[in-house]
Amino acid sequence: MFTKRHIISIRDFSKDEIDYVLSRAEGLEKYARGLTDRGCKLLEGKVLANLFYEPSTRTRLSFEAAMTRLGGEIINLASQESSSVAKGENLADTIRTVAGYCDVIVLRHPREGASRMATSFSSVPIINAGDGAGQHPTQTLLDLYTIKREGLLEGLKIALIGDLKYGRTVHSLAYALSLYGATLFFVSPNALEMPEEIKSDLKEAGAEISEYTDVREVLKDVNVIYVTRIQKERFPDPTEYSKVAGTYRITTDILKQNEDVVVMHPLPRVDEIDTEVDKTKNARYFTQSFYGVPVRMAILSILLNK
Ligand code: NCD
Repeated sequence: MFTKRHIISIRDFSKDEIDYVLSRAEGLEKYARGLTDRGCKLLEGKVLANLFYEPSTRTRLSFEAAMTRLGGEIINLASQESSSVAKGENLADTIRTVAGYCDVIVLRHPREGASRMATSFSSVPIINAGDGAGQHPTQTLLDLYTIKREGLLEGLKIALIGDLKYGRTVHSLAYALSLYGATLFFVSPNALEMPEEIKSDLKEAGAEISEYTDVREVLKDVNVIYVTRIQKERFPDPTEYSKVAGTYRITTDILKQNEDVVVMHPLPRVDEIDTEVDKTKNARYFTQSFYGVPVRMAILSILLNK
């Protein structure tokens, strides 16, 4: 498997490797839920370093929960302002240094390609926890896990909705789903379409894709909708953001078109899913965020070879 390897892009994984992570996560779920008397000591003595140069709630905390549940320890770059980043230290030097303090580095950075670059300076595995509009491979693994737990991974029909241009979660997820033969419906404002390069990679991989601007065109044809936030922070021009802000919103009314559809979202949500939807049987986004713990436990335990 992928022991001691960097995790930068979901495209570095084979389908067998993904399946292995998902089945391993299933076995770890009881530990993730804290349901056992004796915790799991698989990673006792191991240290994970979180280096987040962008905001995060779920990714950072679920990595911390995962490492803690496995008996390991965490160190954190508290904030850029309070570290030597504020003195002008470059990423390469920070990585070289932190690699000496830990067994694995989890890195989130606003620049696409930053994690790949960091691998050149690290003596320990780097896990990409989001590189700008690039990739977010561990999010994809937990998204796939969520879909699998719903029994929908085979023959899946899924709509990816929202900011398909800058959203790294949908970039990674679309690539992974092409390995599973999913039918992909891309729904976005025209200005936020899935990048051409990704579409052409997906077509080359044999994926069935089609594009829409309104979710109502596809809702009846899918098992899952995966909604995303407009990535405001990635817009070069704020007036471009204001043109697309609030252009789509999932409500209980819209969901009447397909009462069985599973609603996912990587979170954070802004206003693209009405909070009324939270009470419906369709909402799965908070379960999805919990699955970040067993899935990241699986990744860490494989990576650190225990
Ligand atoms: C996503 C991210 O950071 O890309 N969040 C997450 O990791 N769950 C999605 C987002 O910020 O919109």
